[in-house]
Amino acid sequence: MAGVDGVARAAEVIRAGGLVAFPTETVYGLGGNALDPLAAAKIYAAKGRPSDNPLIAHVSSVEQVRMLVRTLSKDAEKLMQAFWPGPLTIVMPKADIVPLATTGGLQTVAVRMPENECALKLISESGVPIAAPSANTSGKPSPTEAAHVYHDLNGKIDMILDGGAVGIGVESTIIDVTGEQPVLLRPGAVTLEELSEVLGKPVAIDPAILAGGVAAGVAPKAPGMKYRHYAPNARMYLVGDKSGSADASPSTASDAHVAALILEKTKEALAEGKCVGIICCAETKALYAQALDDKTQKSAKLRVLGSRQDPLSMTHNLFRILRAFDADDTEVIFAEQYADSGVGFALMNRMRKAAGGNVLYTA
Ligand code: TXA
Ligand code: MG
Repeated sequence: MAGVDGVARAAEVIRAGGLVAFPTETVYGLGGNALDPLAAAKIYAAKGRPSDNPLIAHVSSVEQVRMLVRTLSKDAEKLMQAFWPGPLTIVMPKADIVPLATTGGLQTVAVRMPENECALKLISESGVPIAAPSANTSGKPSPTEAAHVYHDLNGKIDMILDGGAVGIGVESTIIDVTGEQPVLLRPGAVTLEELSEVLGKPVAIDPAILAGGVAAGVAPKAPGMKYRHYAPNARMYLVGDKSGSADASPSTASDAHVAALILEKTKEALAEGKCVGIICCAETKALYAQALDDKTQKSAKLRVLGSRQDPLSMTHNLFRILRAFDADDTEVIFAEQYADSGVGFALMNRMRKAAGGNVLYTA
């Protein structure tokens, strides 16, 4: 974890209008004073991010939230009570004090209280809410280690606090509570099921985040969700089994079908001289490892996301693995498709975006 001196120095940088990358439990954030329009402008410039894409304000206390919002609804209070500090961002009507530069011109503000100790300390020592997008170059996989931040932003920001590898590995869940019905804008580790249970009513899903949403031309409510995202340099394909619906529990037969198609496509791409990557899970690893002979393995690299029994083990590794494939100059990635339920919804949302909508199905 980042030393106490580091946090004190970082807080000074934030107060002086500078930028500090810091760990959270989801991904690393690139922080600046959320009340300072110039800091917001610096954040957009460092990331190469379009300035209509609003930033999340990170807080360390409920008093800070009251300062940022015009009204705090009952729903918002229930969610804060149940999930904060933690990986949930709540979109609320903004107070005048929040500059439009931070909210991308919107009259709403997205607020989150992270659970990570270093992040909480940084916010409280700075004495201001901290606007922080993920600390990656716009469009690239979000950083889950300080080294990823260094790779993307070295020389463009004032400081990086190194808190080691993050736990969750994908960005926070975003829920909009400004309308009559709450709407899920981005899936994350806090699941749709958990949100509806706490609110005691159904939560709508922004159609843009459903499979094919953006591809089908639906404009997302979270502006950031419309951009190509999390993308490795390689062309990536998700590979699924047509015979089983996405929510069906995985079967040995469908695993074998998917592995056969991935191996067939891998051979084709290798024959074209391409550098190939395969993403599988612990449960299916043997299907590939057995089939890839030594010669093939040299150019087709197999990476295991985690266990399908534990989707958080897979979200934890996803972005690191996509970056590792970039480092290998991988040109094509074939990835297994998993169930969309629970945390799997967040995992598949990021994988679909990384694949830019490319999906292959078994016959
Ligand atoms: O886990 C996270 O949320 C990380 C860490 C650093 O906290 N942050 C993060 O920020 O993922 P960023 O900027 O990469 O993603 C923020 C998303 C974007 O899709 C943005 O469009 C959406 O939140 N957003 C922000 N303010 C919004 C608002 N007022 N209304 C709707 N969507 C909003
Ligand atoms: Mg981001």
